[in-house]
Amino acid sequence: MATATATHNLPRTLRPEGDWHHAFSYHPMDVEIARAEGVHIYDRDGNRYFDVSGGPMAVNLPHNHPRMKRAIAEQLEHYTYTHPSIADPKRAEFCRLLAEITPADLDHAFLVSGGSEAVETAIKLARQAQMARGNRDKYKIVSHRDAYHGMTLGTLGVSHNPVVQSAFEPMLPKWPHVRQYSDFDRPEGTSREEWGVECAGALEYAIHYAGPKTVAAFLATPHGCGADYACVPPDSYWRAIREICDRYDVLLIADEVVTGFGRTGKWFAMEHFSVDADIMTMAKGISSCYVPFGAVSVSSRINVPFEQGFPFVHGYTFGGHPLGCAAGCELIHVIRDEKLLENCNAQGERVFSYRDELLSHPTVADVRGWGLMMVLELVKDKETMAFFDKSVDAQELFQAMALKHGLAMYSSLYGAARQPAFARGVPIWISPPLSISSEETDEMMLRLLAMLSEWEAAVL
Ligand SMILES: Cc1ncc(COP(=O)(O)O)c(C=O)c1O
Repeated sequence: MATATATHNLPRTLRPEGDWHHAFSYHPMDVEIARAEGVHIYDRDGNRYFDVSGGPMAVNLPHNHPRMKRAIAEQLEHYTYTHPSIADPKRAEFCRLLAEITPADLDHAFLVSGGSEAVETAIKLARQAQMARGNRDKYKIVSHRDAYHGMTLGTLGVSHNPVVQSAFEPMLPKWPHVRQYSDFDRPEGTSREEWGVECAGALEYAIHYAGPKTVAAFLATPHGCGADYACVPPDSYWRAIREICDRYDVLLIADEVVTGFGRTGKWFAMEHFSVDADIMTMAKGISSCYVPFGAVSVSSRINVPFEQGFPFVHGYTFGGHPLGCAAGCELIHVIRDEKLLENCNAQGERVFSYRDELLSHPTVADVRGWGLMMVLELVKDKETMAFFDKSVDAQELFQAMALKHGLAMYSSLYGAARQPAFARGVPIWISPPLSISSEETDEMMLRLLAMLSEWEAAVL
């Protein structure tokens, strides 16, 4: 039987024993899920945990929603898969409903089964759309430095995440990366709006030096990623980006894998800026993770050559699976019927009403975000932004203590491993299902405040 040995250097909360020994490489926390209901997860002993981060910012509906289960079960009764030569009416129904909620003329959808596939598809679509328009030399996809867009080789290439980059570097596409908008290096006396335009200017430089004739698209998430996760740029940033894209015939791809389907209080986050992308990627909240699903929406303008028969060299066996389409249709109806966008805005405000109390903690360097997407940035010392010593296991201890307080929190590649290059803290995600009630929000936040104090007593 395998045990966690010092040679593997596994954090103490990991337990690769028994059946888990056969699960490749990735081992569970000490708590094992037995069931989930609403905004809660229950373990085998009946202990209850808030799904504080909504899985990886992905569970937008309540767990165990009867309507979602019924819609998927009904689809199971009819058919679960069809050969591509036979039309699947659920796919048409989902794409029609999706076109009702996507901004502007993003009216045509290519269906996939997850976020990485969606981004990979968007990259290939941008390339082929440029070819179809006679721009055969346009193939480079410019993206943000320190972002995250997925785990396939193509999406890792555009992610430019320093933690994973070094492992795969020679295999990844070498396309330009530009800085994100950040409030952390905004010069004194410069407004957010002015700084937004300055930061966007990095894209124009990148296009200029890469060669405008070679750049097919710019790909980015609406809010910041990596060290700047959930940093929301001013409108000026996205407006300037759109203008630069238009000036150089560069397509704009918005990666809404996390922000789509209500997470920020609107169906899609780019609506906040009134800026329309040419291509938009979606996954996670699209089915609230009831089944694997994802989509890429394409504007009518970009779709013209494909509609006229220009071949898109692409496709996945599981892309647009009927169970995904059934889940996606019902999810849109549930968000509308249960007014979850409205609830997201109300509960988002409630979560952010705890901002000052959170910031009064010695380790909370920043509190930021929008809708039901709050990020706390944790450091050892707010003045110097120094991080905890490795020996303290601050991040692992945080998760273990959160569980003790009935809070299941998402952990990611960001954080301790990034120091000292970034001199920034660990982002902690507060992004529960959009259905959370006022009472649940208060209980979750009070538990979080209590556990923060206990954690600080242990790590400071
Ligand atoms: C912005 C963004 N794009 C793409 C992905 C990849 O999605 P998936 O994990 O479903 O492949 C993620 C995952 O976290 C993401 O945050």
